[in-house]
Amino acid sequence: MKQVWGRSSKDMTTMPPPRHRGAAKKPMWIIVLLSLICVALMGAYVYPPRHYSACYFFASSVCTPFKDWLPAVVRERTDEEIVSSVVIRNLLSMPMAVSKNPKIAFMFLTPGSLPFEKLWEEFLQGHDGRYSIYIHASREIPVHSSSLFVGREIRSEKVVWGRISMVDAEKRLLANALEDVDNQFFVLLSDSCVPVHTFDYIYNYLMGTNVSFIDCFLDPGPHGTGRYSMEMLPEIEQRDFRKGAQWFAITRRHALLILADNLYYNKFKLYCKPAEERNCIADEHYLPTFFNMVDPGGIANWSVTHVDWSEGKWHPRSYRAADVTYELLKNITSVNENFRITSDDKKVVTRIPCMWNGTKRPCYLFARKFYPESLNNLLKLFSSYTSA
Ligand SMILES: *[C@@H]1O[C@H](CO)[C@@H](O)[C@H](O)[C@H]1NC(C)=O
Ligand SMILES: *[C@@H]1O[C@H](CO)[C@@H](O)[C@H](O)[C@H]1NC(C)=O
Ligand SMILES: *[C@@H]1O[C@H](CO)[C@@H](O)[C@H](O)[C@H]1NC(C)=O
Ligand SMILES: *[C@@H]1O[C@H](CO)[C@@H](O)[C@H](O)[C@H]1NC(C)=O
Repeated sequence: MKQVWGRSSKDMTTMPPPRHRGAAKKPMWIIVLLSLICVALMGAYVYPPRHYSACYFFASSVCTPFKDWLPAVVRERTDEEIVSSVVIRNLLSMPMAVSKNPKIAFMFLTPGSLPFEKLWEEFLQGHDGRYSIYIHASREIPVHSSSLFVGREIRSEKVVWGRISMVDAEKRLLANALEDVDNQFFVLLSDSCVPVHTFDYIYNYLMGTNVSFIDCFLDPGPHGTGRYSMEMLPEIEQRDFRKGAQWFAITRRHALLILADNLYYNKFKLYCKPAEERNCIADEHYLPTFFNMVDPGGIANWSVTHVDWSEGKWHPRSYRAADVTYELLKNITSVNENFRITSDDKKVVTRIPCMWNGTKRPCYLFARKFYPESLNNLLKLFSSYTSA
């Protein structure tokens, strides 16, 4: 070796080095480099970094959507994960009982009385046997203005905004509604929600599809991924974390899936809370993240409940009586693209067409938030804005 190097440097002083000299040195470098790569790869295989799953070493297409169910080459799955994956996979592939009399369950999550009972009554009139109503009143016993709502309260508990108690109330509504085997679609509504189409339109829209309308998107900003906590590892990685409005309309299969889930629910119960440094709101992240992980193709990724965030404030726009016009309601029913904006400095806007069974259709069946004072205007306009 020494001799070769010596000769080489001597050659350099006398004449330009022949081309093949550089080439002769290369194999040594390649061998050393390859050995280092091999050692590194073996190290990564034998001693995996604790919190990183196999997915970091594969193309993402291999890993989604069932990356957690890949053979545990690098990370050994926890007991809870094995239980969860087997239950979820079976629920997703199991044939569901077909109901002869399919109904929509309208599930109202409200502090107390429902100001729009009269409007819902108008909407539901003549459709007995095709719907059912459930009310979770968390603060006070509702006073009813429509007989259709009398006695429809379920046992309720206090709901604290942003806390897991909100998700618990949703699960309580689902459990009660699932008891009726005829309920096939489950719609979560608030006291400020109103229908923006006829009953038949909404019934056919929901019953004609097997996807759930769960809002879900990747927001890399502080109100999205910024709320993720490393404590959700190893089962929930940061890149799995999603955001979406809580107002869902879901299939019976997905309603069962939510009640069957313990693993992901507990992660959000323990590590997603409103706090000074990381203001995590469980009802905005649990279901979008969960469904994005276990059945991404089974959700539409948008909510059928309209809300106007265009004012860019902490709360969405609320409609006063004077705002409620034929034009406003027609505007809401004609939207057929889902609008999103990220919460980071880039404020990236995306518009996704609302695709229903392969065709672009209006996105919204319900809308919020309406002040109680707008009831009369809504009643007056209902038959005109819901007609085609
Ligand atoms: C959905 O689309 C398929 C294929 O275009 C069609 O066969 C089916 O009838 C549609 N379903 C409804 C409910 O329209
Ligand atoms: C929905 O139903 C169609 C046919 O009826 C089926 O091909 C598709 O896989 C189903 N999708 C889901 C998410 O269940
Ligand atoms: C919803 O988004 C997920 C993830 O981006 C995607 O895989 C899925 O196909 C989307 N669902 C529909 C119905 O397009
Ligand atoms: C309805 O939509 C049009 C077009 O986007 C807009 O100019 C108008 O201000 C909207 N009207 C209401 C009442 O929101």
